[in-house]
Amino acid sequence: MKIGLIGSGNMARAIARGWGEPVLCTDSGSGSAQALVDELGGERVASNRELAERVDLVVLCHKPYHLDAVAREIGDAARAVASVLGGTSTPMLRRAYPSAQVFALMPNTPVEVRQGVIVYAQPDASLLADLDHELEASVLELFGRLGQVVHVAERLMDVATSVSGVGPAYQALLAEAQVDAAVRHGLSAALAAELVNATVRGSAALIEAKGYDTLRVRREVTSPGGSTARGLDALERAGIRTAFQDALNAVVAQGTPR
Ligand SMILES: NC(=O)c1ccc[n+]([C@@H]2O[C@H](COP(=O)([O-])OP(=O)(O)OC[C@H]3O[C@@H](n4cnc5c(N)ncnc54)[C@H](OP(=O)(O)O)[C@@H]3O)[C@@H](O)[C@H]2O)c1
Repeated sequence: MKIGLIGSGNMARAIARGWGEPVLCTDSGSGSAQALVDELGGERVASNRELAERVDLVVLCHKPYHLDAVAREIGDAARAVASVLGGTSTPMLRRAYPSAQVFALMPNTPVEVRQGVIVYAQPDASLLADLDHELEASVLELFGRLGQVVHVAERLMDVATSVSGVGPAYQALLAEAQVDAAVRHGLSAALAAELVNATVRGSAALIEAKGYDTLRVRREVTSPGGSTARGLDALERAGIRTAFQDALNAVVAQGTPR
Protein backbone atom coordinates (compact mmCIF):
# COMPACT_ATOMS: atom_id res chain seq x y z
CA MET A 1 0.00 0.00 0.00
CA LYS A 2 1.47 3.34 -1.05
CA ILE A 3 1.13 5.98 1.68
CA GLY A 4 1.22 9.77 1.60
CA LEU A 5 1.38 12.13 4.55
CA ILE A 6 -0.40 15.49 4.51
CA GLY A 7 1.63 17.57 6.92
CA SER A 8 5.16 16.84 8.10
CA GLY A 9 5.14 18.14 11.69
CA ASN A 10 5.60 16.37 15.02
CA MET A 11 3.04 13.60 14.55
CA ALA A 12 3.87 12.93 10.90
CA ARG A 13 7.54 12.70 11.82
CA ALA A 14 6.86 10.28 14.70
CA ILE A 15 4.69 8.06 12.47
CA ALA A 16 7.14 8.14 9.56
CA ARG A 17 10.08 7.31 11.84
CA GLY A 18 8.08 4.41 13.26
CA TRP A 19 7.35 3.03 9.80
CA GLY A 20 10.98 3.63 8.92
CA GLU A 21 10.45 3.82 5.17
CA PRO A 22 10.78 6.55 2.55
CA VAL A 23 7.84 8.96 2.60
CA LEU A 24 5.73 10.97 0.21
CA CYS A 25 4.67 14.08 2.09
CA THR A 26 3.55 17.69 1.93
CA ASP A 27 3.65 20.74 4.18
CA SER A 28 2.31 24.28 4.05
CA GLY A 29 5.61 25.85 3.07
CA SER A 30 7.84 25.68 6.16
CA GLY A 31 10.26 23.13 4.68
CA SER A 32 9.28 20.42 7.18
CA ALA A 33 8.37 18.00 4.34
CA GLN A 34 11.82 18.34 2.79
CA ALA A 35 13.42 17.85 6.23
CA LEU A 36 11.48 14.60 6.64
CA VAL A 37 12.49 13.44 3.17
CA ASP A 38 16.12 14.33 3.92
CA GLU A 39 15.91 12.10 6.98
CA LEU A 40 13.96 9.11 5.63
CA GLY A 41 14.15 9.36 1.87
CA GLY A 42 11.14 9.66 -0.43
CA GLU A 43 9.75 12.82 -1.97
CA ARG A 44 8.23 16.14 -0.99
CA VAL A 45 5.17 16.45 -3.20
CA ALA A 46 4.17 19.89 -4.47
CA SER A 47 0.44 19.73 -3.67
CA ASN A 48 -1.95 17.77 -1.49
CA ARG A 49 -4.03 16.88 -4.56
CA GLU A 50 -1.05 15.45 -6.42
CA LEU A 51 -0.10 13.44 -3.35
CA ALA A 52 -3.63 12.01 -3.07
CA GLU A 53 -3.56 11.03 -6.75
CA ARG A 54 -0.31 9.14 -6.33
CA VAL A 55 -1.02 7.07 -3.21
CA ASP A 56 -3.41 4.36 -2.02
CA LEU A 57 -3.80 5.86 1.45
CA VAL A 58 -3.68 9.51 2.44
CA VAL A 59 -2.74 10.04 6.09
CA LEU A 60 -3.95 13.39 7.41
CA CYS A 61 -1.32 14.82 9.79
CA HIS A 62 -2.21 18.51 9.60
CA LYS A 63 -4.05 20.42 12.35
CA PRO A 64 -7.75 19.63 12.79
CA TYR A 65 -8.86 23.12 11.73
CA HIS A 66 -7.35 22.55 8.27
CA LEU A 67 -9.68 19.59 7.59
CA ASP A 68 -12.09 21.33 5.24
CA ALA A 69 -9.49 23.39 3.37
CA VAL A 70 -7.30 20.34 2.70
CA ALA A 71 -10.32 18.23 1.74
CA ARG A 72 -11.46 20.88 -0.74
CA GLU A 73 -8.00 20.85 -2.30
CA ILE A 74 -7.91 17.06 -2.58
CA GLY A 75 -11.50 16.75 -3.78
CA ASP A 76 -12.29 13.23 -5.01
CA ALA A 77 -8.65 12.30 -5.65
CA ALA A 78 -8.29 10.30 -2.42
CA ARG A 79 -9.48 6.69 -2.38
CA ALA A 80 -8.74 6.09 1.29
CA VAL A 81 -8.06 8.55 4.10
CA ALA A 82 -6.66 7.77 7.55
CA SER A 83 -6.83 10.69 9.95
CA VAL A 84 -4.81 11.27 13.11
CA LEU A 85 -6.52 14.61 13.71
CA GLY A 86 -7.54 15.32 17.30
CA GLY A 87 -11.27 15.74 17.92
CA THR A 88 -12.19 14.66 14.39
CA SER A 89 -14.77 11.87 14.28
CA THR A 90 -15.50 9.39 11.49
CA PRO A 91 -18.72 11.25 10.52
CA MET A 92 -16.72 14.50 10.24
CA LEU A 93 -14.22 12.75 7.98
CA ARG A 94 -17.00 11.29 5.86
CA ARG A 95 -18.50 14.73 5.37
CA ALA A 96 -15.10 16.10 4.31
CA TYR A 97 -14.27 13.10 2.06
CA PRO A 98 -17.62 11.72 0.86
CA SER A 99 -16.12 9.61 -1.93
CA ALA A 100 -13.34 7.98 0.11
CA GLN A 101 -13.08 5.26 2.71
CA VAL A 102 -12.20 7.04 5.96
CA PHE A 103 -10.58 5.86 9.20
CA ALA A 104 -10.18 7.89 12.41
CA LEU A 105 -7.12 6.97 14.46
CA MET A 106 -5.29 8.67 17.32
CA PRO A 107 -1.68 7.60 17.83
CA ASN A 108 0.55 8.86 20.61
CA THR A 109 4.17 9.90 20.18
CA PRO A 110 5.80 6.57 21.23
CA VAL A 111 4.80 5.37 17.73
CA GLU A 112 8.21 6.80 16.85
CA VAL A 113 9.79 3.83 18.64
CA ARG A 114 6.99 1.42 17.64
CA GLN A 115 5.57 1.32 21.13
CA GLY A 116 2.67 3.67 20.61
CA VAL A 117 -0.98 3.30 21.43
CA ILE A 118 -3.16 3.84 18.39
CA VAL A 119 -6.79 4.37 19.32
CA TYR A 120 -9.08 3.41 16.44
CA ALA A 121 -12.61 4.80 16.32
CA GLN A 122 -14.71 1.71 15.75
CA PRO A 123 -17.21 2.73 13.04
CA ASP A 124 -20.83 2.83 14.27
CA ALA A 125 -23.26 0.22 12.94
CA SER A 126 -24.72 2.87 10.62
CA LEU A 127 -21.36 3.20 8.84
CA LEU A 128 -20.55 -0.51 8.56
CA ALA A 129 -22.51 -1.12 5.37
CA ASP A 130 -20.18 1.14 3.37
CA LEU A 131 -16.98 -0.07 5.03
CA ASP A 132 -14.36 -1.88 2.95
CA HIS A 133 -13.33 -4.46 5.55
CA GLU A 134 -10.27 -5.61 3.62
CA LEU A 135 -9.00 -2.04 3.40
CA GLU A 136 -9.76 -1.51 7.10
CA ALA A 137 -7.67 -4.60 7.94
CA SER A 138 -4.77 -3.27 5.84
CA VAL A 139 -4.92 0.16 7.50
CA LEU A 140 -5.01 -1.39 10.98
CA GLU A 141 -2.11 -3.69 10.09
CA LEU A 142 -0.15 -0.65 8.91
CA PHE A 143 -0.77 1.29 12.14
CA GLY A 144 -0.26 -1.89 14.17
CA ARG A 145 3.40 -1.75 13.10
CA LEU A 146 3.64 1.36 15.28
CA GLY A 147 2.40 -0.24 18.49
CA GLN A 148 -0.85 -1.46 19.97
CA VAL A 149 -4.10 -0.69 18.17
CA VAL A 150 -7.04 -0.35 20.57
CA HIS A 151 -10.61 -0.27 19.22
CA VAL A 152 -12.86 2.25 20.96
CA ALA A 153 -16.47 3.25 20.34
CA GLU A 154 -16.70 6.63 18.62
CA ARG A 155 -18.55 8.23 21.56
CA LEU A 156 -15.65 7.37 23.93
CA MET A 157 -12.85 8.55 21.66
CA ASP A 158 -12.39 11.84 23.52
CA VAL A 159 -11.85 10.11 26.86
CA ALA A 160 -9.66 7.35 25.43
CA THR A 161 -7.39 9.71 23.57
CA SER A 162 -7.27 12.03 26.58
CA VAL A 163 -5.60 9.14 28.38
CA SER A 164 -3.21 7.86 25.72
CA GLY A 165 -2.58 11.00 23.67
CA VAL A 166 -1.41 13.17 26.55
CA GLY A 167 -0.02 10.19 28.48
CA PRO A 168 3.59 10.44 27.25
CA ALA A 169 3.78 13.99 28.64
CA TYR A 170 2.42 12.85 32.02
CA GLN A 171 4.87 9.94 32.17
CA ALA A 172 7.72 12.28 31.27
CA LEU A 173 6.67 14.66 34.06
CA LEU A 174 6.41 11.82 36.59
CA ALA A 175 9.83 10.52 35.58
CA GLU A 176 11.34 14.00 35.80
CA ALA A 177 9.87 14.59 39.27
CA GLN A 178 11.30 11.29 40.53
CA VAL A 179 14.71 12.00 39.01
CA ASP A 180 14.81 15.47 40.60
CA ALA A 181 13.85 14.02 43.97
CA ALA A 182 16.62 11.41 43.72
CA VAL A 183 19.16 14.05 42.68
CA ARG A 184 18.34 16.00 45.85
CA HIS A 185 19.33 12.86 47.77
CA GLY A 186 22.64 12.43 45.94
CA LEU A 187 22.04 10.26 42.84
CA SER A 188 23.31 11.53 39.53
CA ALA A 189 20.55 12.56 37.12
CA ALA A 190 21.71 9.95 34.59
CA LEU A 191 21.64 7.09 37.08
CA ALA A 192 18.29 8.20 38.51
CA ALA A 193 16.81 8.43 35.00
CA GLU A 194 18.00 4.92 34.22
CA LEU A 195 16.46 3.58 37.43
CA VAL A 196 13.16 5.40 36.92
CA ASN A 197 12.79 4.41 33.26
CA ALA A 198 13.63 0.76 33.84
CA THR A 199 11.19 0.70 36.76
CA VAL A 200 8.39 2.21 34.65
CA ARG A 201 9.02 -0.32 31.88
CA GLY A 202 9.16 -3.29 34.25
CA SER A 203 6.14 -2.15 36.25
CA ALA A 204 4.06 -1.76 33.09
CA ALA A 205 5.00 -5.29 32.04
CA LEU A 206 4.20 -6.66 35.51
CA ILE A 207 0.83 -4.91 35.71
CA GLU A 208 -0.05 -6.31 32.28
CA ALA A 209 1.07 -9.83 33.30
CA LYS A 210 -1.21 -9.61 36.35
CA GLY A 211 -4.24 -8.72 34.26
CA TYR A 212 -4.07 -4.99 35.09
CA ASP A 213 -4.72 -5.78 38.78
CA THR A 214 -2.93 -2.71 40.11
CA LEU A 215 -4.04 -3.24 43.70
CA ARG A 216 -2.40 -6.69 43.73
CA VAL A 217 0.84 -5.24 42.34
CA ARG A 218 0.80 -2.54 45.02
CA ARG A 219 0.03 -4.99 47.84
CA GLU A 220 2.88 -7.27 46.74
CA VAL A 221 5.43 -4.48 47.14
CA THR A 222 3.90 -2.86 50.23
CA SER A 223 4.93 -4.44 53.55
CA PRO A 224 2.73 -3.34 56.45
CA GLY A 225 4.37 -0.37 58.11
CA GLY A 226 7.18 -0.45 55.54
CA SER A 227 8.86 2.11 53.32
CA THR A 228 6.54 1.67 50.30
CA ALA A 229 3.53 2.25 52.56
CA ARG A 230 5.11 5.50 53.79
CA GLY A 231 5.90 6.62 50.23
CA LEU A 232 2.39 5.82 48.97
CA ASP A 233 0.89 7.66 51.94
CA ALA A 234 2.91 10.76 51.05
CA LEU A 235 1.71 10.58 47.44
CA GLU A 236 -1.92 10.14 48.50
CA ARG A 237 -1.71 13.05 50.94
CA ALA A 238 -0.21 15.17 48.17
CA GLY A 239 -3.39 14.46 46.18
CA ILE A 240 -2.07 12.31 43.35
CA ARG A 241 -5.48 10.79 42.52
CA THR A 242 -7.20 14.18 42.52
CA ALA A 243 -4.42 15.58 40.36
CA PHE A 244 -4.97 12.89 37.68
CA GLN A 245 -8.76 13.31 37.86
CA ASP A 246 -8.40 17.09 37.49
CA ALA A 247 -6.02 16.59 34.58
CA LEU A 248 -8.42 14.29 32.73
CA ASN A 249 -11.34 16.63 33.44
CA ALA A 250 -9.32 19.53 32.05
CA VAL A 251 -8.38 17.66 28.87
CA VAL A 252 -11.83 16.18 28.18
CA ALA A 253 -13.55 19.50 28.88
CA GLN A 254 -11.56 21.15 26.10
CA GLY A 255 -11.99 18.28 23.60
CA THR A 256 -9.38 15.85 22.31
CA PRO A 257 -5.76 17.07 22.39
CA ARG A 258 -4.67 19.00 19.34
N1 LIG B 1 1.42 15.77 18.83
C1 LIG B 1 0.74 14.73 19.31
O1 LIG B 1 1.08 14.11 20.33
C2 LIG B 1 -0.48 14.24 18.58
C3 LIG B 1 -1.04 13.03 18.96
C4 LIG B 1 -2.11 12.54 18.22
C5 LIG B 1 -2.62 13.27 17.18
N2 LIG B 1 -2.08 14.48 16.86
C6 LIG B 1 -2.67 15.21 15.77
O2 LIG B 1 -1.69 15.33 14.76
C7 LIG B 1 -1.97 16.49 13.98
C8 LIG B 1 -0.70 17.27 13.76
O3 LIG B 1 -0.19 17.68 15.01
P1 LIG B 1 1.33 18.08 15.14
O4 LIG B 1 1.63 18.17 16.59
O5 LIG B 1 2.15 17.19 14.28
O6 LIG B 1 1.27 19.56 14.48
P2 LIG B 1 2.46 20.34 13.72
O7 LIG B 1 3.79 19.92 14.25
O8 LIG B 1 2.08 21.77 13.78
O9 LIG B 1 2.35 19.83 12.22
C9 LIG B 1 1.29 20.19 11.38
C10 LIG B 1 1.76 19.98 9.96
O10 LIG B 1 0.67 20.25 9.08
C11 LIG B 1 1.20 21.00 7.98
N3 LIG B 1 0.13 21.70 7.28
C12 LIG B 1 -0.65 22.72 7.70
N4 LIG B 1 -1.51 23.09 6.73
C13 LIG B 1 -1.26 22.27 5.68
C14 LIG B 1 -1.79 22.17 4.38
N5 LIG B 1 -2.78 22.95 3.95
N6 LIG B 1 -1.29 21.22 3.56
C15 LIG B 1 -0.29 20.41 3.97
N7 LIG B 1 0.26 20.45 5.19
C16 LIG B 1 -0.22 21.39 6.03
C17 LIG B 1 2.21 21.91 8.61
O11 LIG B 1 3.05 22.43 7.61
P3 LIG B 1 4.30 23.39 7.96
O12 LIG B 1 5.37 22.47 8.48
O13 LIG B 1 4.63 23.99 6.66
O14 LIG B 1 3.80 24.36 8.99
C18 LIG B 1 2.92 20.93 9.55
O15 LIG B 1 3.91 20.20 8.86
C19 LIG B 1 -3.04 17.28 14.74
O16 LIG B 1 -4.26 17.14 14.06
C20 LIG B 1 -3.10 16.62 16.08
O17 LIG B 1 -4.42 16.64 16.62
C21 LIG B 1 -1.01 14.98 17.53
